[in-house]
Amino acid sequence: MKVFVLNGPNLGRLGKREPSVYGSTTHADLAELCVRTGKELGLEVEVRQTDHEGEMVGWLHEAADGGHPVVLNAGAWTHYSIAVRDAAAQLSAPLIEVHISNVHKREQFRHHSVLSDIATAVLAGFGVAGYPLALRWLAEQQR
Ligand code: DQA
Repeated sequence: MKVFVLNGPNLGRLGKREPSVYGSTTHADLAELCVRTGKELGLEVEVRQTDHEGEMVGWLHEAADGGHPVVLNAGAWTHYSIAVRDAAAQLSAPLIEVHISNVHKREQFRHHSVLSDIATAVLAGFGVAGYPLALRWLAEQQR
């Protein structure tokens, strides 16, 4: 099974970006962790990151057309992008919403997600470890 791990705006700056909130793991490290975890689990994992909303919408269309599950950290788009939500709503395979930080412990504007009610599951506050957790759950659904 092929799984898309899709990361939105500012997540390419992991490691440099507010390390007290997001930790010291870089996006390249995160991508490697996801691919390695996928191999252990028998999943083909493709990790992508973009700061451009239209590009993310296109990737979600690609996942919808291919029937691929998606692990999505939409970053700030989580809180307001109806375009990302509408694209994610077209997925037939599971959608796992992931946040590195516990968004519910942070500013009020981060408490609402336009994705959570269409997501299969939501993970927040596990740091980058949330990604392998999501992949493990997806692999278990295969069995
Ligand atoms: C985030 C939380 C969002 O509120 C924020 O805009 C991000 C990252 C997280 O992974 O904790 O960019 O999705």
